[in-house]
Amino acid sequence: IPAENIRNFSIIAHIDHGKSTLADRLLELTNTISSRGSNKQVLDKLKVERERGITVKAQTVSMFYKYKGKNYLLNLIDTPGHVDFSYEVSRSLAACQGTLLLVDAAQGIQAQTVANFYLAYGQGLEIIPVLNKIDLPGAEPDRVLKQIQSAFEVDTSSILKISAKTGINIESVLPSVIEKIPCPKGSMTKPFRALLFDSWYDKYVGVVCMLGVVDGTIRKGDKVVSAYSDTRYEVTEVGIMHPEQLPTGYLHSGQVGYIVCGMKTASEAHIGDTFHHIGKKVEALPGFQPAQSMVFAGIFPVDTNDFKKMDDSIKKLTLNDASVSVHKETSNALGQGWRLGFLGTLHMDVFRQRLENEYEANIIVTQPTVPYRIVYKDGTTKTIRNPSEFPDGDERAARVSRLQEPMVLATMIFPDEYMGKMIELCGTRRGEQREYVYVDEKRVMMKYILPLAEVVTDFYDELKGRSSGYATFDYEEAGYEDSELVKMTVLLNSKPVDALSVILHRSQVDLVGRDWVKRLKGVIQRQLFDVVIQTALGTKIVARETISALRKNVTAKCYGGDVSRKMKLLQKQKEGKKRMKMIGNVELPQKAFYDFMDNN
Ligand code: GTP
Repeated sequence: IPAENIRNFSIIAHIDHGKSTLADRLLELTNTISSRGSNKQVLDKLKVERERGITVKAQTVSMFYKYKGKNYLLNLIDTPGHVDFSYEVSRSLAACQGTLLLVDAAQGIQAQTVANFYLAYGQGLEIIPVLNKIDLPGAEPDRVLKQIQSAFEVDTSSILKISAKTGINIESVLPSVIEKIPCPKGSMTKPFRALLFDSWYDKYVGVVCMLGVVDGTIRKGDKVVSAYSDTRYEVTEVGIMHPEQLPTGYLHSGQVGYIVCGMKTASEAHIGDTFHHIGKKVEALPGFQPAQSMVFAGIFPVDTNDFKKMDDSIKKLTLNDASVSVHKETSNALGQGWRLGFLGTLHMDVFRQRLENEYEANIIVTQPTVPYRIVYKDGTTKTIRNPSEFPDGDERAARVSRLQEPMVLATMIFPDEYMGKMIELCGTRRGEQREYVYVDEKRVMMKYILPLAEVVTDFYDELKGRSSGYATFDYEEAGYEDSELVKMTVLLNSKPVDALSVILHRSQVDLVGRDWVKRLKGVIQRQLFDVVIQTALGTKIVARETISALRKNVTAKCYGGDVSRKMKLLQKQKEGKKRMKMIGNVELPQKAFYDFMDNN
């Protein structure tokens, strides 16, 4: 198929606005899948995705379609909808020339609609607005149309109004794609050059890479090179996704498809990388940067015997997700575990949930940390991902000039009656307002600069709670800013519990310090002596609670009589202890951490 009969496009939408449903309809319409329902939502593959109704891993599908007597190859490139994956979104978009901006006609534009619109706009894509769910009784297509006009200043004269669910006007979508979106602009005769925009691990063939071929042709048996790592690969299979892998023997300029080339792990496939033939070096495609982890947390098995099993599970899960960074970590309180880095909090939740669901792991996840930056007096910098790397008082005085924390630009959209509550929330999270505009008579869009650390904890839950679920939220990275950061430690009878150290902004120390001692008091059992729980900055105590000693002697109820019974009880008590960790003289069951972290 010549390039002029190829269209590469994507669908961008806020969560639940119907992206997967529309994709399914288009696949049925082109007979790529049968319409008898059994294939429902082919694009959402993972179990967590289905459970949470979100798309995490992008899937791309090629469709054939006849229009005005000509055969077209339409490649629908699925993009992850969530901000955590914004780098992957922009790489997927780089393989397209246009996109359908899908908006729920009842809900109107939402935070992710805005964020995704700007990603697509920034890449110069042709954007076709589509109103979905016009079958709903609450649909207000005219109001939403005005919102789109005022927020994006795009041409809405030929806006599509559809119902992906019932099929209304669904037949108007592909003709619009063909007429409005330009064909890919590469050259058949130039040396082969392709963008790697997605990859996954397949247990039979190993790593599968999705390529957008810009110039030239790639064939089975070709030898290719990664421009980023300079590694050479032999292409053992090449084809299109239709919707499963369909070998075609070659892919040429303008096409989108997969190759298998002997990569062992997903971490070899660098999203955004350029591939070319050996000996035919080409200019790399723009914009390659390795995905950055922005949220780090310690993960430990509740039962320390599960370490080996969990190690295997984590290896398996990361085979398919190169964006999770993994390091071993040992804690005095929690034993052996891992420090994992994620793209964002949703990414972390999804990973945790997969670990729990698919591998039945029982885990403790420590308070998440963002990457903080130390600026030294000599001008060098260091990024730290663990409170244990925080400079102590002496080092700070001697060498450190400043500390910095990562910031984000957050976009929130909500009905205007929640304005007060939203401003208050952002205020308590050290936010700084940048912009607010009405997107229509009743809805407000507000932009704030916020510290990432404030966003990764319970910000989203608070936002939803305070707006009765109506506010939507998205963010993008906004660099680093100087910040008054301190490290707070937790002491049990004067001994620090490493897994409970956190880096905080100075203004939050009192609140968090007091809250933590109270809650720890609630989860630690009484012991045979007083247990003093303290939070501290260095040697300065922030807050304190005491758990008074337990008087009772376990053997007391035996009235000193039956010796064998007494022995048994003592034995039992000893076994119980095995599962305890000792912090100084204080016994701390893993369960206490689990309860504490879970309520965080
Ligand atoms: P993510 O994958 O999480 O981004 O969501 P999505 O945008 O793919 O949404 P999805 O297709 O899963 O649809 C969300 C919900 O909206 C589902 O319950 C759909 O059945 C419903 N839905 C989608 N399109 C329509 C429509 O045209 N009309 C109505 N009434 N419901 C729709």
